[in-house]
Amino acid sequence: MERNVFSRLLSGIRRLLKQRAGAPGEQHVGDMADDVDSLKEKVSQGKLPVHVGIIMDGNGRWAKRRGLPRLSGHAAGGRKAEEIVKFAQDVGIKHITLYVFSTENWRRPKDEVDGLMNLLVDMFEKRFDDLVNYGAKIRIIGRRDRLPHNVLRAIMNVEERTRTNSRISVNLAIDYGGRDEIKRAFQRLAKKAALGEISPDDIGEEDISSHLDTSGVPDPDLIIRTGGEKRISNFLIWQSAYAELVVTPVLWPDFSRQDLLMAISEYQQRDRRFGSV
Ligand code: IPE
Ligand code: IPE
Ligand code: MG
Repeated sequence: MERNVFSRLLSGIRRLLKQRAGAPGEQHVGDMADDVDSLKEKVSQGKLPVHVGIIMDGNGRWAKRRGLPRLSGHAAGGRKAEEIVKFAQDVGIKHITLYVFSTENWRRPKDEVDGLMNLLVDMFEKRFDDLVNYGAKIRIIGRRDRLPHNVLRAIMNVEERTRTNSRISVNLAIDYGGRDEIKRAFQRLAKKAALGEISPDDIGEEDISSHLDTSGVPDPDLIIRTGGEKRISNFLIWQSAYAELVVTPVLWPDFSRQDLLMAISEYQQRDRRFGSV
C-alpha cells in the first residue's frame, strides 16, 4: 500500500519535471549551472578545436512542436546563435562558422525566405551590437549577388564595424553552398590562368583554399549538426575533409551551452589519424 503511494508520487514528480523541460514529448533539459561549470573545466584541460562549424538545423520542428509559426523558430534560433557564439568565445574557441542560409534554402516558401531575411537585418542592426562590443570579428561567407539590398547593407556594416576585433572570428554562411563556393574559386583561378598570372600545372590545394570565402581561416576541426540529420547539406565541403562530425538530435533553439561542451568533449575523445596509423 505504502509502496503504491510512493511510486505514484514519484511518477507525478517525473511528469512535472518533464513539463518544465519544454514542449510535450520533449526530454531535453538544457543547462544545469553546476554541470556546465564542471564540464567547462574538464573540456578546457583538453585540446580545444580551433575552428568549430555548426549546422544549425531544427528551427522549424522546434516551432511546430510548440504550435508556433516556423519563423518564430528562426527568431529563437537567432537568439541562440548569439548565446552560443559568446559562450564559444568564453570557452576559448578561436573560429566559429554558423550555417545560416544555404544556396538551397531559396526553395522555401517566399514568406519564410522573406521572414528570414528580415530577421537577419534585425539581428545585424540590433542584436549583434553586443557581439561587436564583445570583440567578435564577423565575416559573411557565401554569395552576395542574390541578397536583398537591406541585408547586403547590414552585412557590410557589421563586417566594417567588427573588422579590427580579434577575440573570436565568426563566419556567418549566408546564401552559402560549398559547391557554389568552389565554383567561384575555380572561376577566379581560371581567370588568373587565362591572364597568364598562374600556370594551371602549378595550382595546388593551398591555392584552392586561399580562393575560397574562408581564405585565411583554418579548416574546421569539429562540425556539429543539430536536429539529428546525418548529412552535410553542402556546408564547407572542401574545408571539412578531415573535420570530426558530431550530430545531436537536439533542435537548434534548444541547443545549450552544455550541449556545446558535450560536443567538444566528444571531439576530444576522437582519435584523429589523418590517414596515418
Ligand atoms: C534551420 O532550421 C534553419 C535554416 C535552414 C534557415 P530549419 O528551418 O531547416 O528547421 P527544420 O529542419 O525544418 O526543423
Ligand atoms: C541546412 O539545413 C542549412 C542550414 C542550417 C542553414 P536544411 O534544413 O536546409 O538542410 P536539409 O534540407 O535538411 O538537408
Ligand atoms: Mg532543416
